[in-house]
Formats: sequence, structure tokens, C-alpha cells
Amino acid sequence: MMKTTRTNEANTTDWHESAFDIIRGLAAYTGSSLVEGLAEVVARYPDADLGTAFNHKQVGCKIWARDSLFESLGGNFNHIVVLGGWYGVLPAMFFDDNRFNIGMIESVDIDPEVAKVAETLNAGAGERFRAVAQDMYGLDYKTSRPDLVINTSCEHIADLPAWLSLLPRGTQVLLQSNDYFSEPTHINCVPTLEAFKEQTALRHIAFAGALAMKKYTRFMVIGTV
Ligand SMILES: C[S@@+](CC[C@H](N)C(=O)[O-])C[C@H]1O[C@@H](n2cnc3c(N)ncnc32)[C@H](O)[C@@H]1O
Repeated sequence: MMKTTRTNEANTTDWHESAFDIIRGLAAYTGSSLVEGLAEVVARYPDADLGTAFNHKQVGCKIWARDSLFESLGGNFNHIVVLGGWYGVLPAMFFDDNRFNIGMIESVDIDPEVAKVAETLNAGAGERFRAVAQDMYGLDYKTSRPDLVINTSCEHIADLPAWLSLLPRGTQVLLQSNDYFSEPTHINCVPTLEAFKEQTALRHIAFAGALAMKKYTRFMVIGTV
């Protein structure tokens, strides 16, 4: 029994080092700044929950967001703010996509532990990326005036209309939520796309859609508050 445990520990250590080598090799092969950043994150922050952040559903929902944004509003933005930005996967995907020309992306998250991971993942963007540890309800959106506000964590936000009311009228937004009620950290799911449209009450909708995953459906609206 003891022997098996020790073998597993050794395998875990070896596997972690191998994962770093494999991802660095993939970065060289693909030339992707995101994959290069991911290798660094694996090396420096072995406890980060990368398996969840980079699972195919999370990545699929963000590819959907990126493509729908490009088709709805184009690819040129001066200043994007991502709320509930977690490990900064979506910004890294934007910087990795040459259809987009983005001056600066700020990723805001209330969890102080995630900023260093997001900064490492987006290191290739240099000064064009910044991770901020703050509550999205405490930001001054009227002074900073971003030209796009993204929140793909609406299911984690207690009072979505109260947060949206902080944004200056005319602000462009991309919002995602889902109907994954059984996940304990999801405190504000919606049952349908119609319910999400009602909850967000955008003045103008450029895109609204639903993406069916195995266990849940993700909803997205792009438009103007
Ligand atoms: C699990 S993650 C993101 C899930 C989502 N599907 C995604 O990847 O876009 C949700 C994030 O929202 C953050 N969050 C929750 N409430 C927040 C608030 N009031 N202000 C800023 N960030 C918040 C959490 O700390 C967490 O990192």
C-alpha cells in the first residue's frame, strides 16, 4: 500500500514536469502566445485549477464568444474590460487571434489569487494586459469608459441588473450565463435564453444565442446597455 502511494507521488511529479515540457513543445510547434503562457503557468502555479479553466467546454464557450463578437462588432477595440475574468483565458484567446486589434484588456476578479496566473498566461501581451483584484460592483465605469465590457461569469453574480446599472448608457457588452443550476457556485442561473435577455434588458441586441453542452446550455447576448 505504502509503495503504491509513493509511486503515485513520483508519477505526479514526473507528469507535472512532463506537462510543462509537452506544452512548451506545443508552443514552439504552434507559435501560439497562449500556449507559451500556459506552459509558464503550469511551471509556476501547479495548484491553479487549469483542468477546469481549459476544459473543452470552457474553451468552446470562449471560442463561441470570440467568433460571435467578431461577427457582431468587428475586431478593433481600444479598451476591453473582462469582469469575473478568472485566469485570463479569454484575453489570451483574443491576443492569440490576429483578426483582433486590441489596445488593452483589463481582467478584473474579486479573487486575489487569480491575478498572478492571468498575468503569466498573458505575459506575451506585455502592457496590453492587466489583471486587477477587485469587486466588479466597486469599479468606476463612468471614468474609465471601456469600449467593450465582457462578463462570461453572469451565473456567479448575485444581482446582475444592479451591476449592469453601473455601466454608462451606450456601453457595448458581451454577456454569458447558463442553466447549470446544480453547480453550487452558480448563484444566478437562468432557465432559457429569453429569461437571460429579460434579465439583462439590453437596449440594443446585436447577437443572442444558446450553445448546448452535454450537461447545460450556455446563453450569450452581445449589444448595448
Ligand atoms: C469560475 S469563474 C468563471 C466561469 C465562467 N464560465 C468563465 O470562464 O467565464 C467565475 C469568476 O467570477 C469571479 N467573481 C465572482 N464574483 C465577482 C465579483 N463580484 N467581482 C469580480 N469577480 C467576481 C470569481 O472569483 C471567479 O473567478
